[in-house]
Amino acid sequence: MAQIIDSSNRYGLVSRSLHWGMAILFGAQFLSAAAHWALPRENAVREALWSYHTTLGVTLFALVLFRGAWGLANLPRRPKHAGLSGQAAVAGHAALYALMVIVPAVRLLSAAGGTRGLSYFGVEIFAPQETEIAWMQAPAEWHGEMGWILALLVLGHIFMAVIWHHMIKKDDVLASMTGRQNTI
Ligand code: HEM
Ligand code: HEM
Repeated sequence: MAQIIDSSNRYGLVSRSLHWGMAILFGAQFLSAAAHWALPRENAVREALWSYHTTLGVTLFALVLFRGAWGLANLPRRPKHAGLSGQAAVAGHAALYALMVIVPAVRLLSAAGGTRGLSYFGVEIFAPQETEIAWMQAPAEWHGEMGWILALLVLGHIFMAVIWHHMIKKDDVLASMTGRQNTI
């Protein structure tokens, strides 16, 4: 039976499902952002891809909070990262987490202090304010830039996992996240 919690040489079912499920959702989120950036206004593809950006962004925000809590609860038994390159991996993962939280959080803050409010699948999360609250808008000016930095970090992360670990070093790092290791 698949192991639910993490162990010292592989991530468990919950961590793996969150990692790969969210990787697909982040792919869709970056696609919507890329279309928003690259395509002209009123382009049908741009509109279609942009239509889910807020809803998916809120979903990703909720998922990353759960994933962070699950990761902390599993910290003592997770695969360990030894040596200098291990410390670099931990720093890289911490940066990914920080941006996965901050990027949607700044937009949510601006929605909370904005005049349009925010609904999620028809449920009102933030009621519209009568007047915009300026300090709640300011951090959102960096939302797009920080989103693109996250996208670049993800590209580096994929390069390290697939090219460096799997193809060059031929170690078990990728297998620890695909669950293909049989030993527990
Ligand atoms: C992890 C989740 C998210 C990621 C990775 C992300 C990423 C991005 C990126 C890269 C852009 C820049 C697009 C461009 O250059 O044209 C952008 C723009 C935008 N996003 Fe997000 N986003 C996320 C969540 C959200 C959420 C939750 C909201 C709303 C509550 C939101 C609302 C917007 C809006 C209104 C813009 C256009 C204005 C701007 O660039 O700030 N996003 N997003
Ligand atoms: C094809 C895409 C991807 C591949 C091949 C991949 C591969 C991996 C591997 C092998 C690990 C385990 C690394 C270790 O323990 O040293 C890992 C962990 C991690 N990955 Fe990815 N990854 C991908 C996409 C993503 C994306 C899109 C994100 C976030 C936006 C992400 C965020 C993380 C984080 C935060 C960890 C640390 C473990 C955790 O708490 O989940 N990954 N990834």
